[in-house]
Amino acid sequence: MSNATRRASKKGSRWATAVAHPNIALAKYWGKLPGDGNVPAVPSLSVTLAGMRTTTTVAFDATLVDDELILDDQLQAANGRAKIRATQLLDRVRAAASTTSRARIVSANDFPTASGLASSASGFAALALAAVHAADLDWSAERVADLARRSSASAARSVFGGFVELDGGAEGGASRVVAGPNALDLRVIVAVTTEAAKSTSSTDGMKLTQERSPYYAAWVADAPDAHARMRAAVVAGDFTRVGELAERSALSMHACAMAAGIVYVTGATLAALAEVRAMRASGLEAYATIDAGPHLKCLARCADVAAVHERLAAVPGVVRIIETRPGEGARLADEDAS
Ligand code: PMV
Repeated sequence: MSNATRRASKKGSRWATAVAHPNIALAKYWGKLPGDGNVPAVPSLSVTLAGMRTTTTVAFDATLVDDELILDDQLQAANGRAKIRATQLLDRVRAAASTTSRARIVSANDFPTASGLASSASGFAALALAAVHAADLDWSAERVADLARRSSASAARSVFGGFVELDGGAEGGASRVVAGPNALDLRVIVAVTTEAAKSTSSTDGMKLTQERSPYYAAWVADAPDAHARMRAAVVAGDFTRVGELAERSALSMHACAMAAGIVYVTGATLAALAEVRAMRASGLEAYATIDAGPHLKCLARCADVAAVHERLAAVPGVVRIIETRPGEGARLADEDAS
């Protein structure tokens, strides 16, 4: 169906369903600029991951007195954090579309929610795209990404597919594609260490890090160079360099946060990290990255996925493995061919 036809058939129906994948930052962002713009303090670069997905339907309904959010089959409390954040995004869409209509949001992840697997990234990317189309706004992907970023900065990157950068610092906030999904011989093998939600949100963890970490200024000063090196490695298709830089970025971010008392890793995360390093020592080239949660994501070449899978699955505390690959950006469900 062409875009024009789809828009015409959607007109009046006031609902839309969107699909988005999480992304994993290869060069991390951690920390925000002052103010309420939700602009990252540092630039970041990620890869969007097919193999995990969020599916979200937004339906505007003039008979509703409040927005409703059903997340993974659970109706969320009206004053709960998830529902309040969803309403904030919808308020921006309502203002742009000149409507006051409330909406019902039904969203589901096929992976653990809010546990450091970037569910907020795929969640807000899918919500932004579905809400914009349900409101019949004809927005560019860049504008949808900007809307998503205001709710969760990393969500801007999930609007796009492949390798994606998000600007940070003084001119920050914009995001764009750096290279397509096939730019690198790369697979990401996720070692899930718990199905539970994490205890400190990334927003709270960043705030405490900015207030308390003696290493925060050094992290911010180093980030533009770290990002530029990663960008060059991705564009060159250099798996080894991408892996080395990604592991260093993750460990720098966690060192900075840990110095403020924020510890996302558990014994299982560290055991998995040790196993990744043992793989490298034995000639199996793999690298680790860790976000604001206890799971480990392992970067490997396509040909090594089975070997990496087997070794990570045997690590005590790893409960299951998810194999992912560079994938597409957010899209409407009726455009979804995967
Ligand atoms: O934008 P948030 O709140 O999802 O924070 C993302 C923080 C990290 O995942 C740890 C790093 C990153 O760049 O995605």
